Formats: sequence, structure tokens, C-alpha cells
Amino acid sequence: MRKLLFTGSLIAAAIVSQASFTAFAAPADDKLVIDEELEMITRAKSVEGHPLPEVISGWHFRTPETRAIESDSFQNPGMLGVEQGEEIWNTVEGTEGKSCASCHDDASVSMKGVGAAYPKWDADSGKPINIELRINKCRVENMGAEAYKFDKGGQKPLTAFIKHQSLGMPVALDLAAGDMQKWWEQGKETYYRRTGQLNLSCASCHEKNQGKYIRADHLSQGNVNGFPTYRLKQNKLISLHNRFRGCIRDTRAEFPAAFSDTLMGLEVYTTWRGTGLSVETPGVRQ
Ligand code: HEC
Ligand code: HEC
Repeated sequence: MRKLLFTGSLIAAAIVSQASFTAFAAPADDKLVIDEELEMITRAKSVEGHPLPEVISGWHFRTPETRAIESDSFQNPGMLGVEQGEEIWNTVEGTEGKSCASCHDDASVSMKGVGAAYPKWDADSGKPINIELRINKCRVENMGAEAYKFDKGGQKPLTAFIKHQSLGMPVALDLAAGDMQKWWEQGKETYYRRTGQLNLSCASCHEKNQGKYIRADHLSQGNVNGFPTYRLKQNKLISLHNRFRGCIRDTRAEFPAAFSDTLMGLEVYTTWRGTGLSVETPGVRQ
């Protein structure tokens, strides 16, 4: 038994060295100012209990070209998703004959700051709720419309539109509400749990090896303040739970369902890690 385990970990070690982390490169020393007007907080002193001294936006780890695209809202292709979200906001749907705007009016007023404070405690379900699930709740309970399935229908554009109303505002969660602390702890456990054939945790890449290269990718701290983000490689907006699932899949582990308790805990915990960073939605990544 002992011998078997030993062999197993040797194999894992061999695979990890294939995935090999190479030379460290400092995050770019640069400032993110959107449209030469709105300066983003892309570096912040970490909150108490954070393992790193400073939190740094993933933007600093991208190439100069990618960084430039995010700084110009006309060039940022994610803004098309935001515009699409605005159209959906104003569209009547469901048996109640209402649009989001019927109740919430001008999103630049009613939704300002909302995206910076999610996930929030939801007393009705006794769980944390993110923007995607909050949209579904309003569709079902207030509009007589169907819930969007994961990544389908208006879910990504509407989420991007709502988060964009908090552009530049620092991320801050209320962990004192309900059982948020419990979900934070569960998310932390997931973050440090090694899984998959490669036996890696989120922390293996985004904490221990941040700043190093893994293949062609400059590893960031894996902060979530830009989501949904526009990925140039995939030519579309990518939701946070899709990104989580992609990262877990890369360790060759089974990946949990979107909005499962495991990924909701992870969203609470990773959002907390980025406390103080500006909401960048829609961020641009490669
Ligand atoms: C019939 C009225 C109604 C409609 C239509 C409606 N909502 Fe809501 N919405 C509410 C109410 C009531 C709340 C709860 C307010 C609170 O808890 O402070 C809410 C809360 C929210 C919140 C959370 C705000 C916060 O401060 O945490 C979001 C986000 C939201 N709605 C988005 C939407 C979207 C997107 C749509 C359209 C798909 C929509 N709503 C349609 C009534 C509505
Ligand atoms: C094998 C290494 C590896 C592991 C393990 C890993 N990731 Fe990633 N992750 C990456 C790479 C590579 C990228 C793209 C470059 C970057 O931003 O670091 C990325 C990007 C991200 C991003 C997007 C960051 C941004 O600025 O847009 C998030 C969020 C993220 N990871 C979260 C996680 C979480 C949560 C886990 C654990 C469930 C995890 N990752 C595990 C390699 C990994």
C-alpha cells in the first residue's frame, strides 16, 4: 500500500514537472485608466487574513496589447455584451408583462455598486446568491419568465451589464450576513484542496506560482474582479463559473456543476481575496 502510494505521487510529480512552472516575471508596472478618464484600482493592500501582502488584478499579467484593449471601451469587445445586456434590461418578457427596467428603472442608478457587493447572503434560499442567480430569481418571481440555464440566453450579457454599473468601484463583501462565513470557509477548503491527476490546488498555481509562466501563460493571482471577462482566444465573454470549471478541468479532475455549493463557496472565497480591487467588468484576457 505504502509502495503504491509512493509510486502514485511519483507519477503525479512527473506530470507536474511536464506542466512545469518556468521563470518568474514581475506583473507589468502600468496603470489601468479606462478611456483616459476612470482610474482602476488594480493593486491593493490585502485584507486581514489574506496569505499575500498585495492583491493584484489579472490585468497586470497580460501582454501590452491585451492591456491596451481593456483600457479603451471602444476597442473592448466585451462592451458589445454589455450593450446587449442593456437591451435585455429594457425588454418585456414573461407573463407579468414586465422588463427589468419596469421595476429597477435606470440601471446606472439602481445597479450602481450592486455588482461590487456580490455574492450576497440570500435569506430565502439560505445560501449565498450571485448576480446570475439573482437575475434568475427576478425572472421567476417578479416577471413570470423562465430562469436562464447556465451561460445561456441573456445570462452572460445581463450579468456583464449589471457588474459594469460598478466599474471602478472596489470589491467589498459582507461576510457578517447570514452564514456567509461558513461558505467562505468551505470555499477556502476547496481553494487549497489538491485534486486531479496533477494533484494541484488553486493555490498551487495562483498563490505559490503566481508570476511564473505555465506554458505560454503568465500566471496571475486568479482574481475574479473582471468577470464576465472577454477572452480573446475564445472570442467571447466567459462567465466566472465557466472559468472555475476550466481551471479545475486543467488539473484533470472531475469538475463540479455551475452554481453548485462547491463553486458558490469558491466564488465567495475568491471574491473576498480580491477585496479592494476595482470591478473591471468586462475585463479583457487572452
Ligand atoms: C416586479 C418588479 C421586478 C422586476 C420586473 C425585476 N426585479 Fe429585480 N428586484 C425586485 C425586487 C423587489 C428586488 C429586491 C430588492 C431588495 O432586496 O432590496 C430585486 C432585486 C434585484 C437585484 C439585487 C439588488 C441588490 O441590491 O442586491 C438585482 C441585481 C435585480 N433585481 C436584477 C433584476 C433584473 C436583471 C431583472 C430583469 C431580468 C429584474 N431584476 C426584474 C423587483 C423586480
Ligand atoms: C495548473 C495551474 C492552474 C490551476 C491549478 C488553477 N488555475 Fe486558474 N488559471 C490558470 C491559468 C494559466 C490562467 C490564465 C492566466 C492567469 O490569469 O493566471 C488562470 C486564470 C484564472 C482566473 C482568471 C483570472 C483573471 O484575471 O481573469 C481565475 C478566476 C482562476 N484562474 C481561478 C482558479 C481557481 C478558483 C482555481 C482552483 C479551482 C484555479 N484557478 C486553478 C491556471 C491554473
